[in-house]
Amino acid sequence: MEVTIRHALPKDIAAIVRVANCAFLEEARLPWLFGVGLVEHLRNFPDWQFVAEVDGRIVGFLVGKPGEDRAFISWIAVHPAHWRKGIGGKLLKAIEEKANKAGLRIVELGTPFARKFYEKYGYKCVNIQKKLVLNLSQRNVDKPQKISLKNLSLDDLPRLLKFFGEEKEYLDTASKFFSSLADDPHLSLLGERRNEIVGVAIATTARLTPELVVISKIFAKDFDYMLSMLNGLEYVCSCYGKRWLGVSLPIPHVDEEKLLSLGWEDAKMPNFWTLYWMRKEW
Ligand SMILES: CC(C)(COP(=O)(O)OP(=O)(O)OC[C@H]1O[C@@H](n2cnc3c(N)ncnc32)[C@H](O)[C@@H]1OP(=O)(O)O)[C@@H](O)C(=O)NCCC(=O)NCCS
Repeated sequence: MEVTIRHALPKDIAAIVRVANCAFLEEARLPWLFGVGLVEHLRNFPDWQFVAEVDGRIVGFLVGKPGEDRAFISWIAVHPAHWRKGIGGKLLKAIEEKANKAGLRIVELGTPFARKFYEKYGYKCVNIQKKLVLNLSQRNVDKPQKISLKNLSLDDLPRLLKFFGEEKEYLDTASKFFSSLADDPHLSLLGERRNEIVGVAIATTARLTPELVVISKIFAKDFDYMLSMLNGLEYVCSCYGKRWLGVSLPIPHVDEEKLLSLGWEDAKMPNFWTLYWMRKEW
């Protein structure tokens, strides 16, 4: 089997998108998402796009771009019929050689599922953006007992500023609140105890997976109230029949170990995953 690596050309767009449709597990398989990015890269960085051909057919591609002092891989994929034959490695070599010629000595990328592949070719994991999910189906979810919950409303914002005691967190929360208002007003929660705010939690339904709700902001006075706020969101999600609740770490007061002990798992969903940031330097 002879594999040819060459620059990608505008005429290759359809074949590249077909490989993406077949190969990706995550949302990069969606043409309306990946296709836009592909065309932008071809337009702006034509010399950094590569395809792999076998018998004149495109079976793999790498979409990349240069930065100031390093190159980035935006997407790479090989058609499943050709996995584990070294084609992905050849595509990596192509961008590394291109970077080297351009005077860049680093190639970087973020990947949800292909960490092992990059490690095989000398890339090291330099950062992990951890995400966890809780499966709410087949789970008993009771209403939190220690706090009373209500939906956060516009009138609560002045009290929220007092609760935070500083503007940065407050403004972030207000912005997340407004972002969730159009589609998910029921997922903005205020936790109170004896009429005093003890926590706030805001979440939104994931665009591509309506059964997944993702926490965009969560804050509480202490560890116990944080657990109550998480429990509150679980409860509301479960009432609406949502199946998954997702969170990006870190969050205040509660660490990963605690969440794992409560049944949360590493996120590996098509549009919500732990991201491994990989780097090769020479
Ligand atoms: C990741 C990908 C590009 C690798 O392409 P490839 O042509 O199979 O890669 P190579 O043959 O050069 O290297 C294969 C190595 O990758 C790793 N690998 C590939 N698939 C794997 C799997 N399912 N499980 C574990 N390791 C795997 C292994 O280290 C493997 O080496 P080995 O065969 O000696 O064990 C391809 O699997 C793919 O398109 N996956 C889906 C899209 C994707 O995840 N892209 C990367 C996201 S940024």
